[in-house]
Amino acid sequence: MPESITIIDNRTNESVEIPIVQGGVAASQWSALLGNIWFLDPSFNTTAATTSAISEVDGENGILRYRGYPIEQLAEHSTYLEVAYLLLRGELPSANEYETWVHDITHHTFIHERFRKRFMESFLHDAHPMGMFVSTIAALSTFYPEAKDIEDPDNRMHQIVRLIAKVPTVAAAGARFNSGLPFVYPDNNLDFTTNFLSMMFKIAEPTYECHPILSRALDLLLITHAEHGQNCSTSAARVVGSALTNPYSVIAAAACALYGPRHGGANQAVVEMLHHIGGYENIDPFIKEVKSGKTRLMGFGHRVYKNYDPRAKIIKKTAHEVFEVTGSNPLLDIALKLEEVALDDNYFAERRLYPNVDFYSGLIYQSMGFPPDMFTVLFAIARTAGWLAHWVELLEQGSRIARPRQVYTGSATRDYVPIANR
Ligand code: ACO
Repeated sequence: MPESITIIDNRTNESVEIPIVQGGVAASQWSALLGNIWFLDPSFNTTAATTSAISEVDGENGILRYRGYPIEQLAEHSTYLEVAYLLLRGELPSANEYETWVHDITHHTFIHERFRKRFMESFLHDAHPMGMFVSTIAALSTFYPEAKDIEDPDNRMHQIVRLIAKVPTVAAAGARFNSGLPFVYPDNNLDFTTNFLSMMFKIAEPTYECHPILSRALDLLLITHAEHGQNCSTSAARVVGSALTNPYSVIAAAACALYGPRHGGANQAVVEMLHHIGGYENIDPFIKEVKSGKTRLMGFGHRVYKNYDPRAKIIKKTAHEVFEVTGSNPLLDIALKLEEVALDDNYFAERRLYPNVDFYSGLIYQSMGFPPDMFTVLFAIARTAGWLAHWVELLEQGSRIARPRQVYTGSATRDYVPIANR
């Protein structure tokens, strides 16, 4: 049987045979025959916007691989910085390459002092840290004007190192400002994740120390959130990047998309939902509200995963390990019961709704002491590696500017009416 589709234009009786490649067809071949007939595909449900070699998301089988490596193996054996290298360069680093990479990242973590004081401290005391994060990352482009030379691969890599190194510093600076605590400078003697925890939580101790299970748990959360194909924020990064915009603005645009509650804002929404439910006795009435369409069960459902989200499995296990160190989080019991009730209910089964990456991550963050406003910022730190990998891939593909069509449904032509006659 030929791996192709034949379309006949009944207006002209012309036909075209289009090969099916990897489960898809090239839209350019349709348009060669059908001229100005467009695909109407709001939310891109059936449109592949690009080819990509970075991550493979198989929603039917609950599979996620970064550059071919299963997420379960990376979560067990790797570190966030090694995963970032893998995503950006395509291969795991050798011992020497890893050492240089970690050294480079560690030595670019500082942000300009005046910038932090004058720019970041000009926000209102209760500014949302995600709002501070996106604005600050965008503003960094004014500090590194050479970043706009995106054609030079060495310059690109230099900006990438800066971004991966500085996003935790910017994130922590925003959180400290919010809580009225003094800024903590990066500590080059700490690993990437522990340094971030130090910038977040250090008070007066000479060197920050934390339980290795906690820093490992956070590193694992960064790994599982690092990349996920053409999701909303990565698509935003690619669309903005296709205009040949500098990388700071690209990452800020992606982070803006992540800010929304349907995307990276969901982990905060899960904790708020669990607080709102408050106790076992309120679970059934809450599920009723969800089923009547009044609200959504946050942390459930995914555009791609329709059987289970492999990241949710890893994170649920980590949650139990973290709670052994921090003491149980009372919301965990509600979450476990809620999950059990939902998985047993036809409404969720029929719609193939399962816990996603955000169902348990917020509980871990909360137990580690992160304020809920910071949860999406943590996601943004992790996803910076994935966004940058897509930005590089896009530039190397030499793609054209992103420019979807629209099907116009507005008024037919009409004459302007002077205001006095309306
Ligand atoms: N709770 C209740 N019902 C839901 C949920 C949910 N969380 N998610 C989807 N549904 C229902 C919809 O109401 C719809 O029902 P209907 O067919 O009776 O109208 C059906 O399931 C299909 O839903 P869609 O909105 O079409 O699914 P879509 O793929 O567009 O949405 C999304 C995916 C946005 C993730 C959605 O499941 C959702 O809003 N979940 C809650 C928010 C969340 O957890 N987001 C994090 C996603 S993971 C991430 O971004 C990192």
